[in-house]
Amino acid sequence: MTAKSIITNLVCVFILSPILAALIIWGAYVFIPESPAPPPAVDMTPAQAAVIRPAPHTPVSGRTVYMANCAKCHGASGDGKGTELLDRPARSFLEGGFSFGNTTEAVRRVVQHGIAGTPMPGFAGTLNAAQARAVVKYVLAMAPAAELDVEDALLEVRDRPLVLRGMLPARGPFEEVQPRGVLLGGTDGLTLAYDVDDVRFRVARQGAFARRTDWEGRGGTPIEPLGREIHWSGFGPAFVQDGEPVQARFRGTSIRDGRAELRFSLPQADVREWGVIRSLGILPGYVRTLHIEGNASPYTLQLPTLESPVQVGKGHDFHWWRAGQDLIGVRGATPTKDGAALPANGIVELFVIPGVDVDAARRAGIPEGAGT
Ligand code: HEC
Repeated sequence: MTAKSIITNLVCVFILSPILAALIIWGAYVFIPESPAPPPAVDMTPAQAAVIRPAPHTPVSGRTVYMANCAKCHGASGDGKGTELLDRPARSFLEGGFSFGNTTEAVRRVVQHGIAGTPMPGFAGTLNAAQARAVVKYVLAMAPAAELDVEDALLEVRDRPLVLRGMLPARGPFEEVQPRGVLLGGTDGLTLAYDVDDVRFRVARQGAFARRTDWEGRGGTPIEPLGREIHWSGFGPAFVQDGEPVQARFRGTSIRDGRAELRFSLPQADVREWGVIRSLGILPGYVRTLHIEGNASPYTLQLPTLESPVQVGKGHDFHWWRAGQDLIGVRGATPTKDGAALPANGIVELFVIPGVDVDAARRAGIPEGAGT
C-alpha cells in the first residue's frame, strides 16, 4: 500500500464518512415527519384554517402558524379571546389550564385530531409535521412555567398503547361502579372503557389516560380515567338476536399492530375490537373497528346510544344515524331498523361524531349530496 493510498483511505474514513453520516441524519430529520401518519381523514377541504406549506427547508415559525390558524379562536395573545364567535370558549393558554395534558405529546394530539364535541378542529390535514411541532412549542411556551410539570401518579400513553384492568368508577348517579373494567389507551389519545363481565363498551374519552388510585392498596379503590368523556354508550347490550341480548364473553386483551385490542366471543362468533381517533373533514370523532370471524348467527349490533337513533342516509361510505346530538356511522354491516346486521366474517366500523348539528353534518356531506 502506498503512502498516497493510505492517506486517501484515512481521508475517506475520518473526514468523508462523518460528513456523509451527518448528511444522512440531517436528511432524515428534515424529510421524515416525526410522528406516524394520522389515520386517513375522509376527504374534505378544512374550511376553517388557512393552508400554508413552506418548503421543508424553511424554518417554520410557531407564531406564524399560530396567527394563521389558531388566533381567531384562541386570541392573538393566547388569552382565549379570539374574533370567532364560539358556543364554548376556546382555551386561554396564558393561564396554562391544559385539561387535555400539558406535555408536548398531549398538545400535539389535540392539535392533530381536534377535540370531539367542541369547536376545536383537527389540523391533521392542514398542518405538516414541522408546522405542527412549531405551533405546539409556541402554545406550550405561553403557559406559566409552574404549570408544566406532569403529575407522577399519572399513567401516560406515549409511543405504546396501554391496557389497564381494574375497578372503574360509576359514571354518574345512575350507573354502578364496575368492579371489573378494562381501559384501552391508544397512542392517539383515545381511551375506550369496557365492562369485562358482559363485554359492554361504556365510554370513549380523549386526552390523558388514567391515574391509579389503588397502586399500593389491594385494588379496593377505582381507577380514575383522566381524559374528557366524548361519548357514552348508554345502558343497552351491544349485540342482540331477535330482540334478545346476546351473551358476550371476554377473552382478553392484546397489543397488536401498535394498538390495544379487546378480544371476546359471542356464542357463534369471535370478535377483536379496537378504536382510533378519526375525523370527517374537520369534524372530530372516533372509530371502533370490530373484526368478526365465524359469525354463523344473524346477530345485530346495537348502536351505542341512549337515544332512539334515526337513519339519515349514506355519506362517505358509511350509513349514518342521528342519535340526539351525535352522528353514528356504520360501515361493513347492513342497516336494520334497530341497528346493523353483522357479516359472517369481516370488518365493521362504527364511526361516532359527537355533538354535531344538522347543518355541520350536511356541510360535511352527511347525508350524501346534502353539502353546499
Ligand atoms: C374554530 C375555533 C378554534 C380554532 C381555529 C383553534 N382552536 Fe384550539 N380550541 C378551541 C376550543 C373551543 C377549545 C376548547 C375545547 C374545550 O371546550 O375543551 C380549544 C382547545 C384547544 C387546546 C386544548 C387545551 C386544553 O385544555 O388542553 C389546545 C392545545 C388548542 N386548542 C390548540 C389550538 C391550536 C394550536 C390551534 C391552531 C393550530 C387551535 N387550537 C385552533 C377552538 C379553536
